[in-house]
Amino acid sequence: MKDKIMIKTSSGSYPVVWFGEMAPLAKSVESMMQNYHRSVFFLSYSIEKIYGKVLDHFFPGVKRLILPDGEKAKSLRITEEIAVKLTKDGIHRNTLFIAFGGGVTGDFTGFMASIYMRSVDFIQIPTTLLAMVDSSVGGKTGVNLKTGKNLIGSFYPPRAVLIFPGFLRTLPDREINGGLAEVVKTAVISPSKDFFSYLEKNISGILRRDPAILSELSYKSIMVKASIVQKDEKEQNIRAFLNLGHTLGHAIESLLDYKGVIHGEAVSVGLHFAAYYSKEKDYLDDHTYLRIRDLLISLKLPYKMEDIHKENKLKSKDLAVNMQKDKKVTKSRIRFVFISGIGRLLLPQEVNENELVQTLKKFKKAYQTVIVQE
Ligand SMILES: NC(=O)c1ccc[n+]([C@@H]2O[C@H](COP(=O)([O-])OP(=O)(O)OC[C@H]3O[C@@H](n4cnc5c(N)ncnc54)[C@H](O)[C@@H]3O)[C@@H](O)[C@H]2O)c1
Repeated sequence: MKDKIMIKTSSGSYPVVWFGEMAPLAKSVESMMQNYHRSVFFLSYSIEKIYGKVLDHFFPGVKRLILPDGEKAKSLRITEEIAVKLTKDGIHRNTLFIAFGGGVTGDFTGFMASIYMRSVDFIQIPTTLLAMVDSSVGGKTGVNLKTGKNLIGSFYPPRAVLIFPGFLRTLPDREINGGLAEVVKTAVISPSKDFFSYLEKNISGILRRDPAILSELSYKSIMVKASIVQKDEKEQNIRAFLNLGHTLGHAIESLLDYKGVIHGEAVSVGLHFAAYYSKEKDYLDDHTYLRIRDLLISLKLPYKMEDIHKENKLKSKDLAVNMQKDKKVTKSRIRFVFISGIGRLLLPQEVNENELVQTLKKFKKAYQTVIVQE
């Protein structure tokens, strides 16, 4: 595994660098800080509790702004509150913002960096697996509205992404699984079939949370994401492949009001459904469908609706209606990314709502133990 990738964007390029220890990462951050009058860390309460002392040690005296935990940080209200705080503290444009946390902190900090005083530079230090394999790279930033997730945002690439997989030692298992779901998705869309086989061959190492393997998953995933976002920075075409499994995933999250489910869990079931629907439409052969399903099962990831919602009460019709609210929807028709093989995807296609509802019902029925009338 190499330890650096350069990501090209329309406004320049930035490095993603992997570190085996915290000290060299800190050194690298310090040298970037030299180029700015001030630097500010953005992190959540929980991360401050876990890593406050580490930051005191490596970055004594550097300002830290504490965000609320979880998705509620990604709001326009918090954006305004924090922006006001920044101005009161005299933070001007020549400042480096540092996102230290998971995807929420990264999305929030990137968004703030893109609009604060008409933009300041920012870097990402991801601390969750999801952020190390996906969200820290690609330049999408944003916050949520009452009407949906990530509806306000910008494409604003970071100046650098610095990854230290050692942060995963403190990450709860459930959150590791959330990141793994995105890894499986990335392996399915990877043009090289090797990534998917690598996962199949390393199931026990992944379940053991072997640090070298988790590091490799981060590297392989970012390689795939980099190659896609470099070809389609603003999601005109193939970047939509990254949304594989997300149409249903987002609908599940939104129906549950983002409570009791984490993003990767919903994506995991969404990915299984995308494979199932692709098989039902004869785009995908049975053998490949089963490989995808069985990999999710072997990695102990959610793959059926009941894994997310025990009473199995999410109605197919409601899920379909919620899928229409996804921002990738055009003219309120649902667009769906189908799979025709490992590394072979079909650009989003409009699907018929009735067909979708019937397929969701069939999918739920095929994998249900709790019988619910719809
Ligand atoms: N910008 C993008 O391209 C992109 C892509 C995918 C997802 N996202 C966004 O990412 C967000 C989800 O990110 P996430 O899954 O990282 O969630 P998160 O940022 O909420 O982090 C998950 C939980 O883990 C805790 N945590 C983080 N690092 C830890 C560590 N090292 N040790 C212990 N606890 C730790 C956090 O406090 C939080 O409770 C969503 O808002 C989603 O929309 C963005």
